[in-house]
Amino acid sequence: HNYQDILVDEPQSGVLTIRLNRPEAYNALRTQLLKELAEVLDQAADDSNINAVIITGSDTVFAAGADIKEMASLDAVGVMNDPRPTYWRRIALFPKPIVAAVNGFALGGGCELMMHCDIVIAGDNALFGQPEINLGIIPGAGGTQRLIRTIGKSMAMQMVLSGEFISAHQALSFGLVSEVTIPESSLQRATELARKIATKPPIAVRLAKEALLKAYETTLDSGLNLERKSFTLLAATQDRNEGISAFMEKRQPNFTGK
Ligand code: HXC
Repeated sequence: HNYQDILVDEPQSGVLTIRLNRPEAYNALRTQLLKELAEVLDQAADDSNINAVIITGSDTVFAAGADIKEMASLDAVGVMNDPRPTYWRRIALFPKPIVAAVNGFALGGGCELMMHCDIVIAGDNALFGQPEINLGIIPGAGGTQRLIRTIGKSMAMQMVLSGEFISAHQALSFGLVSEVTIPESSLQRATELARKIATKPPIAVRLAKEALLKAYETTLDSGLNLERKSFTLLAATQDRNEGISAFMEKRQPNFTGK
């Protein structure tokens, strides 16, 4: 495939790595980039050779947000007819795990894209922010909702209202990222994790992701209900038999996704 705004490696060990690649614009998320991201994820969803995805940028920039130059040309009707929300929706609905390796700026839509990922490994040079307020707008790809659910009220308010950035170590302390590495190691650590996840039984991984994400938007009771139903469904999979047999027989399991 020939993409303009992203680089997509051949899947390796069940992992597809996607690099945002508009260095001249700090990986600003223009429509073309989001479209390509949605397309590649749609294909990855249907590809049984891909069990996990990594999204990364460069050593110094993850993404500096929506493309401000593109945004400048849109009036209210243009914003209303903008196809980008449908691309964001497709990214949000991607059923397999996404690990982000984030170095440098993750701002505005870049921070929001990172929050669409399931696990975030940050280089210690990472900077996170929702600076939309400086442009007279607010986050538009879930930033107000996902940020407050992830890092809590006071810091979410602080970031969105003041536009102030936070560091990788602050992000770690608030649970926005799960590990901080030196910048040269974030992609390697993300790859290690994604490859490990890719060896796990895919149906169980998928149902686990779905159940975990449900916690953002439902009551405890209905979340527990979904968990129990998924738990029950997994009893009908061959991979559950394989996992339990392998444990009993003191050998490594061989999962097939069935
Ligand atoms: C378009 C951008 C861009 C952006 C940087 N560039 N961010 N172009 N959209 N979001 C371009 C610059 O115009 C410049 O190109 C080049 O990238 C380098 O940027 P500089 O500003 O020269 O670099 P630096 O001084 O190092 O500052 C880096 C920065 C700053 C702090 C990241 O660029 C910045 O504040 N960017 C905007 C961040 C932002 O406001 N993001 C929120 C966007 S709104 P040229 O060719 O001009 O030299 C948003 C809404 C989300 O995300 C809505 C839902 C999707």
